[in-house]
Amino acid sequence: MNKKTVRDIDVNGKKVLVRCDFNVPQDENGVITDNRRIVSALDTIKYLLEKNAKVILCSHLGRPKGEIKPEFSLKPVAAELSRLLGKEVKLAKDVIGEDAKNLVNNMKEGEVVLLENVRFHREETDNDPEFAKKLASFADIFVNDAFGTAHRAHASTAGVAAYLPAVSGFLIEKELNFMGDALDNPERPFMAILGGRKVSDKIGVIEALIEKVDTLMIGGAMAYTFFKAMGYNVGNSICELDKLDLAKELMEKAKKKGIKFMLPVDTRIGKEFKPDTESKVVKCSEIPDEWEGFDIGDETIKIYVEELKKAKTVVWNGPVGLFEFDKFAIGTNSLAKALGDMDAVTIIGGGDSAAAIEKLGIADKFSHISTGGGASLEFLEGKKLPGIECLLDK
Ligand code: 3PG
Repeated sequence: MNKKTVRDIDVNGKKVLVRCDFNVPQDENGVITDNRRIVSALDTIKYLLEKNAKVILCSHLGRPKGEIKPEFSLKPVAAELSRLLGKEVKLAKDVIGEDAKNLVNNMKEGEVVLLENVRFHREETDNDPEFAKKLASFADIFVNDAFGTAHRAHASTAGVAAYLPAVSGFLIEKELNFMGDALDNPERPFMAILGGRKVSDKIGVIEALIEKVDTLMIGGAMAYTFFKAMGYNVGNSICELDKLDLAKELMEKAKKKGIKFMLPVDTRIGKEFKPDTESKVVKCSEIPDEWEGFDIGDETIKIYVEELKKAKTVVWNGPVGLFEFDKFAIGTNSLAKALGDMDAVTIIGGGDSAAAIEKLGIADKFSHISTGGGASLEFLEGKKLPGIECLLDK
């Protein structure tokens, strides 16, 4: 990585503002259901504490759209973080208000304060310079470790870097090293599995990966747009009729580039969008009217797994089926298990595919599971991320 990290700057006894991505899922009682993003921030926080820094943490949670809403408070995060660090994390009642100022001004070295949800201010997402300046006034140094939010040009992810020396934390460094290496210097064969609902969401990443991979495997609902483009009947399956030409172009591009572009050969279909709906496996060219494709079929699983066994590097973004319903999680789970057992660099590009792997309890079998959903997608597309661009060059 060509950006300075927290190792490249003297943080001893300094006030350090750390932007984390503590946007964690919670159940209806506000209980955190996946603490991975909090755990992933610990290395940087512990390093700063060892250096006797005063650690001021900030993050967003959800999309409260500039309003103070208790259900978007970072209170559960402060509690979980205190538990994980074995040390009190004081939560400020506001972001740049009196309570935050008081807490920060009275901090001793080696203490941690968490500011309230930065998105309680609309100025955060507007990347308002005055708001960024006030936030920056709390600290001597800015550390961005919010990889999951690095694709947003917001006040606390990028704006503050105009007022403070800005470096990355260890999480951003790790994410960029894994995904950057896979893209720039992969051990081959290099394969990618792309799933998800819409071709339109993945155009950028498909185009970018066609240039890099040896094999591209398509799954998820977006496969049906490709089938329609090939002239198949797709029944009630999700299909973007305005993207048929684009689907054809992408297949053509892959062919010209000489890469293996794989589409499912069979699909598990259901009568209705319900967990217990009647289901069966049919050839992709034989989806009956009134039925909807929800997963890849058994033959496809076999073919994809055989192909994956040859890979030395695999990047996966997006589940290949409706994994929230057990009946249609077979494809995603089978590929996840096969990948987990492989002796290759295996990288999961965040979001739903990461959630599927967490659900299976096999996260430790992968080389890297990104904490970014949208951010990892934009990184794989080759886009510049504002939260990283703003940091000091090495
Ligand atoms: C995420 O969960 O992808 C990040 O925290 C970014 O959240 P956002 O999409 O609300 O900006």
